[in-house]
Amino acid sequence: MILSKRILEMQESPVRKLVPIATRVKKNGKKVFHLNIGQPDIETPKQFMEAINNYDTRVIKYSFSQGEPALINSIRDYFARDGIIFDEDEVLITNGGSEALTFTTIAICNPGDEILVPEPFYTNYNGFTGEVNVNIKPITTLAKDGFHLPSKEDIVKLITPRTKAILFSNPGNPTGTILRLDEMEMIAEIAKENDLFIISDEVYRGFAFDGLKGISMGSIKGIEDRTVIIESVSKRYSACGARIGSIQSKNKELMKNILKLCQARLCVATLEQIGAAELYKLDDNYTAMIKDEYQDRRDIVYSTLQDIPGVVCEKPSGAFYVVAKLPVDNAEKFIIWMLEEFDVDGQTIMLSPAEGFYATPGLGIDEVRIAYVLNTKDMEKSMYILKKGLEKYNS
Ligand SMILES: Cc1ncc(COP(=O)(O)O)c(C=O)c1O
Repeated sequence: MILSKRILEMQESPVRKLVPIATRVKKNGKKVFHLNIGQPDIETPKQFMEAINNYDTRVIKYSFSQGEPALINSIRDYFARDGIIFDEDEVLITNGGSEALTFTTIAICNPGDEILVPEPFYTNYNGFTGEVNVNIKPITTLAKDGFHLPSKEDIVKLITPRTKAILFSNPGNPTGTILRLDEMEMIAEIAKENDLFIISDEVYRGFAFDGLKGISMGSIKGIEDRTVIIESVSKRYSACGARIGSIQSKNKELMKNILKLCQARLCVATLEQIGAAELYKLDDNYTAMIKDEYQDRRDIVYSTLQDIPGVVCEKPSGAFYVVAKLPVDNAEKFIIWMLEEFDVDGQTIMLSPAEGFYATPGLGIDEVRIAYVLNTKDMEKSMYILKKGLEKYNS
């Protein structure tokens, strides 16, 4: 029996593929600090579980396909606090930002169509597009430019009759880059002039350091009908396992059609929606607390990286990731060596090879993505282990 070409060609997650090695070394007694996956250690706000505990029902019923009204309204209020107004039918609840991205791709693209994505990009974009035979056309961005976008001409050159959308995460995973307003306006212009959708993945919005403000694409005027915003409680509210995300767009025709996909999968888990509705009510104090914590972690990571000879990286201004070029020939080999061969007092670290975040072959081979998702003490320890590991590896 032969499996589909589509599934066989699908990339294995570079973030998860080394996990069996980590599991083996942990079984043998080594402690591994996981900087390879975007799983924050911050406690999920207690309001989430309180709302679920107080939800009085004898039967856990199917929710509405479009989502629980309480959650939809809570998300609408969250956007309204930034002056972005969505009607009730302009928000659809999904199983995480992941399903939001899959549904949006299906609704916008035919098989063989193309989506422009600045690279390096969140590696699962390959999955969301590949599973429906849509091709990613990378817009290469470089560490030396802080992973900011190239010129308008360079981007427009990549557009073909099959290009349907520009997709990006802002703040960026894996780069931690926050788009400047002029870059967002350039994207808007390109989209208008070439009749493209804009898929703005804002699951890290709020993680913006050094006084920067994460601006939503929803505040850019004149592109409301082509803008789709991807949201999620996973990162901002440290609720990855809740699997609650959403799609926002003022393009009612698009939303009416995505609702068909929502209906086909019936609904999103009812209880988690009840909990998530409370998360979106948290005020700016919560966001400020989270941002300060991650900024401290970012500072630890960045200052250690600056101290290691041969490491090249830009200071990230958002999300909780940094891409660093290491003085090694092959980052994946180094990551495996750190797991299998190296430790400091029985402890080591696990990073992600950055190659899988690029679509252009050959890029990122000597780069890693570091997710600073552990508390400051563990981050300090982890970065010390990285420094010692590199010294030994290169000696
Ligand atoms: C940029 C980006 N978008 C979307 C997601 C999907 O998140 P979830 O499905 O947990 O909402 C992630 C998860 O890491 C991400 O980094």
